[in-house]
Amino acid sequence: MTSNPYPLGLRLDGRRVVVVGGGAVATRRVPALLDAGADVLLVAPELTPALRARVDAGRLHWVPRRFVPEDLDGAWLVQVAIDDPLAAASVSAVAAERRIFCVRADDRTAATAWTPAVTRHGPVTVAVLGGGDPRRAMTVRDAVRDLLAVRLAPDGIAGRSDASSGTTAGRVALVGAGPGDPELITVRGWRLLTEADVVVADRLVPGLLLDELRPDVELVDASKIPYGPSRAQEEINQILVDRALAGAFVVRLKGGDPYVFGRGGEELLACAEAGVPVTVVPGVTSSIAGPAAAGIPVTHRGVAHEFTVVSGHLAPDSPASLVRWEALAGLRGTLVILMGLKNLAAITATLIAHGRPPQTPAAVVQEATTGAQRVLRSTLDAVAADALAADLRPPAVVVVGDVVGTLDA
Ligand SMILES: C[S@@+](CC[C@H](N)C(=O)[O-])C[C@H]1O[C@@H](n2cnc3c(N)ncnc32)[C@H](O)[C@@H]1O
Repeated sequence: MTSNPYPLGLRLDGRRVVVVGGGAVATRRVPALLDAGADVLLVAPELTPALRARVDAGRLHWVPRRFVPEDLDGAWLVQVAIDDPLAAASVSAVAAERRIFCVRADDRTAATAWTPAVTRHGPVTVAVLGGGDPRRAMTVRDAVRDLLAVRLAPDGIAGRSDASSGTTAGRVALVGAGPGDPELITVRGWRLLTEADVVVADRLVPGLLLDELRPDVELVDASKIPYGPSRAQEEINQILVDRALAGAFVVRLKGGDPYVFGRGGEELLACAEAGVPVTVVPGVTSSIAGPAAAGIPVTHRGVAHEFTVVSGHLAPDSPASLVRWEALAGLRGTLVILMGLKNLAAITATLIAHGRPPQTPAAVVQEATTGAQRVLRSTLDAVAADALAADLRPPAVVVVGDVVGTLDA
């Protein structure tokens, strides 16, 4: 009869762990050891490129040869990641002699320790052992991970702050929500959203993300804040600061990336000035994801070696414009224009007047990555009229450049 394993959380900070083998298994195991702060010694004649990159970066020590018993000097744990059973057994034998726990990738029954399937959720680590069946462990782990992400994070597990008492220091996270598809938020952004006491959301934020917030989360719709655009920004800054100073964890959820025409910098400065700690979580920006969703890569080998993202919210002849459109007209690469529909006729005319060929391919992608996405393909000289005729509306990105047709069959 096999007894149940005894679960432990190993605190490996600065402790020597020996990994024998430099192939696919070692490549998967090493990152978690490094994440745990282990002093990793890798023993293998050859390494995968991923492991080699970590060696080159000075993250671990590598001895480029086969295992010898002295490799276990000072080790607390050994992971055998080779598929030669005889060689693996000899490592286990040395480990057993020295009372060092040994994980065996080739033979779980011969191992003295098993690695669980793991999910990490903020400060919480869930490790699942499947009674010797790794697939069972992974299935259970996946279910727990989903549960943690969606249901359980709010109530203490993820370290939620206590807004009501005002005793816990509040903070703000500026989180990029991605371009529209709710699945395009980052893992960290999603986790912070599930931990929030207050969510201040933009108009372009994917609605489904908000749909899944806990009922007790205060949701502030930033697009409904009255007054003019700059006054509204001041109001938003004030809400972030006030709620955080009252002890809440505030997530400022913004479309795309917070720092791409998102005024994230202003919000960060306002919080910093008030002494409120801020985390910034980058997002998938519509300037890249919008074209991608329409099958347009912003760069392509031999086609475009640069892409430029520019705001078209001001007409080229506006005295307030900071964009040198005539200089952009001289570039050969990809031009991605955000907020440019209203001024598209003036923008395209300026680009052509300063040298961009009129027949340059151009496209407009409206509501990219959502179920309502629309794509229009045209040329620089016709795209403004075509977009008008097709009744395209914001939010939309305009892409100009040879990449527009590159992936067309
Ligand atoms: C104020 S800017 C914010 C950009 C955002 N921070 C980002 O990184 O995507 C708003 C503009 O982004 C573009 N945009 C945002 N989401 C979009 C989407 N799903 N499809 C097309 N364009 C989008 C449009 O040009 C829109 O007018």
